[in-house]
Amino acid sequence: MANAHAVEIGGLTKLYGGTRALDGVSLTVEEGEIVVLLGLSGSGKSTLLRHINQLDLPTEGSVRVLGEDVATLRGKGLRSLRSRVGVVFQQFELVGSLSVLENVLTGSLARLRGPRLGTWMYPRELRTTALGHLERVGLAGREHQRADTLSGGQQQRVAIARALMQSPEILLADEPVASLDPESSQQVMDLIREIGRERGLTVICSLHQIELAMSWGDRLVGLRAGKVVLDTPTSGIDKASVMKIYSAVAPAASLESELEALQHASVGSIRAAAS
Ligand SMILES: Nc1ncnc2c1ncn2[C@@H]1O[C@H](COP(=O)(O)OP(=O)(O)OP(=O)(O)O)[C@@H](O)[C@H]1O
Ligand SMILES: [Mg+2]
Repeated sequence: MANAHAVEIGGLTKLYGGTRALDGVSLTVEEGEIVVLLGLSGSGKSTLLRHINQLDLPTEGSVRVLGEDVATLRGKGLRSLRSRVGVVFQQFELVGSLSVLENVLTGSLARLRGPRLGTWMYPRELRTTALGHLERVGLAGREHQRADTLSGGQQQRVAIARALMQSPEILLADEPVASLDPESSQQVMDLIREIGRERGLTVICSLHQIELAMSWGDRLVGLRAGKVVLDTPTSGIDKASVMKIYSAVAPAASLESELEALQHASVGSIRAAAS
């Protein structure tokens, strides 16, 4: 569909039993926009991302992605949408016993028929493409190494290269650096943004770390208890305004510990503050 938004979410509510994971979320993301979803543990970030490629279905509301009404898609239509939406996960989700190159090549499986065992079973041009993506993410020469012998930051780079094999139009990243040290985190986040810009991808990335979030994307969307409580361009944003918008909706008693958690931004401290 011409002139469609990349993502158009309207009144999205998701209940898991008695838990309101998303509560009337409306959010439009334009093609090529680079967006951070910032929120505490349990605020609904992963749930929101899962609705974009129908890993979850709405209880109420609508999700349109690349012009498609996602909840109605089945079979071929759903596979087609998912091939246009690349995903990068917190825990990388590589096959540790396979080589770096083979992990990257699995990103093209949706376009091939039948299983592939070994890199030689992939067409030569896909192998060439995979090597090109590995070079782009800074892993040239590592293609034959077992994936589980790489550092966390390197494994996440492999996962990014794998996502690129789909030639995605949208890239979703769910806390892609939550298990990395600060230096690797910055490098991986920079890489995701650079690749997003180069390829004109729409990127939606969830993060815990407020400092990273403020300096990274075009736009910052804050989720809290399943609601969008902040939606602002990143340019000119200052920490106080992010805090203020959080504080305006936070119950006074929990505010201090939550702001503390956001500032320090380790997964453990945030989980503790949220529970
Ligand atoms: N499959 C599920 N079944 C039941 N409850 C769920 C399920 N998935 C999410 N929830 C609940 O929905 C709420 C939002 O969870 P979600 O995982 O989206 O949060 P999050 O912002 O991604 O948190 P984190 O930063 O810890 O990853 C939480 O209360 C969570 O317990
Ligand atoms: Mg999550």
